[in-house]
Amino acid sequence: MIPDETVEQVRTAADIVEVISEFVPLKRSGGSWRGPCPFHQGKNPNFSVSPSTASYHCFVCHESGDVFTFVRKRLGLDWPSAVKFIGEKVGIEVIDAPRRAQAPDPNAPNYEALAAAAEWFQRQLLDHEVGRAAREYLESRALDPHAWQRFGLGFAPRDAQALRRYLHSLGIDDARQLEAGLLVLRDGESEPRLRFRGRVMFPIQDELGRHVGFGGRAMGDDQPKYLNSPESPVFQKRRTLYGLHTAKQAMRRAARAIVVEGYLDAIRLSLAGLEEVVAPLGTALTEEQAQLLVRYAGDVFLLYDSDDAGQKATFRSGLELLRAKAKVQVVSLPDGEDPDTFVRKNGRAPMEAQLGHAIDLFDRQVQLLERRGWFADLRHRRSAIDKLLPTIRAAKEPLTRDMYLGRLAEATHLDKVTLAAEADAVPEIERRRSALSGSGGAGALAEGEEPPPFDGPLPEYSGVDEGRIETAPLPPPASDKPVWTPGRKRGYKQGPEWQATNIPPRPRRDEPVERALVRAMLVDRGVAERVAERHPPDAFRDARYRELFDVLLNAPLGDDLEQIAERLSAEAVKALRDLTDAGHYDLEAADIGLSLSKLDARVLELRVDEIRDAMRTASREAQDTLMRERLELEAEMRRLLPMRSPRGKHKP
Ligand code: UTP
Ligand code: MN
Repeated sequence: MIPDETVEQVRTAADIVEVISEFVPLKRSGGSWRGPCPFHQGKNPNFSVSPSTASYHCFVCHESGDVFTFVRKRLGLDWPSAVKFIGEKVGIEVIDAPRRAQAPDPNAPNYEALAAAAEWFQRQLLDHEVGRAAREYLESRALDPHAWQRFGLGFAPRDAQALRRYLHSLGIDDARQLEAGLLVLRDGESEPRLRFRGRVMFPIQDELGRHVGFGGRAMGDDQPKYLNSPESPVFQKRRTLYGLHTAKQAMRRAARAIVVEGYLDAIRLSLAGLEEVVAPLGTALTEEQAQLLVRYAGDVFLLYDSDDAGQKATFRSGLELLRAKAKVQVVSLPDGEDPDTFVRKNGRAPMEAQLGHAIDLFDRQVQLLERRGWFADLRHRRSAIDKLLPTIRAAKEPLTRDMYLGRLAEATHLDKVTLAAEADAVPEIERRRSALSGSGGAGALAEGEEPPPFDGPLPEYSGVDEGRIETAPLPPPASDKPVWTPGRKRGYKQGPEWQATNIPPRPRRDEPVERALVRAMLVDRGVAERVAERHPPDAFRDARYRELFDVLLNAPLGDDLEQIAERLSAEAVKALRDLTDAGHYDLEAADIGLSLSKLDARVLELRVDEIRDAMRTASREAQDTLMRERLELEAEMRRLLPMRSPRGKHKP
């Protein structure tokens, strides 16, 4: 319970225009300020903020309230967090004294369960016998007991019952352990299992230091390398940044933020004294993470691994940050290094030097294209411009946008005004639509269609060996991969290229599996995440469901169906209506696991078809290889859908 006087003090001290401008571009209009409404995602300045009454109002969707309402709704904060959040901005300490009458935070049981588990994992790491291997592993990664302590590292033993029993002894029952993601119930099983077994545990805390989840690293070759907590009421990966809780003060002090890919990278930099570091829990930053980050530092350094995936993630993250109006710089590391290994080998000063040599995101993109000769002839120059325009469009900060246009004019010897018109030509929403309804596969882009943003097949760049880069052959500019790059997700990362490129899309209408999954996504957005972990929206054949999947995956969690419908094409809206009109939907009863397996199997099936075709014309030798692959795929399909195959294990 926060005392009323404190609330009023904070309210009076806060400048509502200043607070809201962090989220909405406001322009003065008489005595008030106007901008696009963030609640219904309006495009026109119908959202008004009045400093005299310290309130806001939208003339279209009628959202209104004060500075606290705004941050509560916009950031999804509860009341005390909203007051604390504003209090922090105005320098008033807000103390939330517990009082009996206060309604308990519905998430408190989750935070408690996770904090208790974190503490238990730490104790296991220190246990003489149980934690031995984990301690050795951490030592081998140059992390000493001081580091374990500082980052709360722990160990989850294989023993299937110990944690569960311990939590029971604290009154934390299975239901709570399930909700917190410590136990999992597999489809079709009645006995819950431990999610984390035999893993080194990295606790994940939210901005306010509450325990929201874990990353568990395998010590050997177990897959996945990192197993993270599932999405839960307290843990949404897309809005969580590893390390933010400790980094936020340092970010304000240093007036910059460093973004790295992994837990280990963040820990290493922090230990080296670069504490303003965070890691997204995936490879590229999401829109929500970008917005969260710019609240603490407007100057963001992207320090990703030097591999292809790192480069893609750099540019994807960069665009999100530009949309959030950050200044974005790209730091390069020598080939084969990641921030962890680099700092471990060289220490802080050389890392600082790399940061000092960072270059602006757009400059970096231009540089990469220049080095490969993309500005040398007209055909390539056109493609280069098309690759760079999305960055200019993303730059929401007018000055940055102008500088980028200037830089592009310089690189292409074209007129800045012409380029600006080109950048204005295709609004963002149209781009997304054409990307969604486009072929999604290989082949040249149709006239007027937008190319994918700057994360296409660019060469790796070592940062030193320029000669090698310049003599490398030009990549064919027209053969871009589909826009959706899933980062390092199974199958699509190191997996054979055919998954993303060579399968001709076979457009179909009303695929039952796709329909079932989208239906579930409408009820629980976590399902979209779950599907995306295995397949990009491009894997969907029905264009309408593909679009729905993509939009649901990217929509802010707070958005309701109407807001979502605003981003859809007419066709997709119709499909959406059909799905929502279909009556009551029981998410519990729906077998998401089965639908996912069906989708997996379908991807494999496509490959089998392809192999069948290829075998007709292949040489003897190639036929053998293809046949072997086909048998493997068929075995995998039987594993996924055992009941379906007449040749499966279930012999009559
Ligand atoms: P990396 O594979 O680069 O991890 O993935 P890392 O932190 O450098 O790991 P080490 O050094 O091999 O231990 C970067 C990040 O991507 C996520 C994790 O957040 C990881 O830190 N990731 C990676 C997963 O969630 N699951 C995985 O299987 C792999
Ligand atoms: Mn890494």
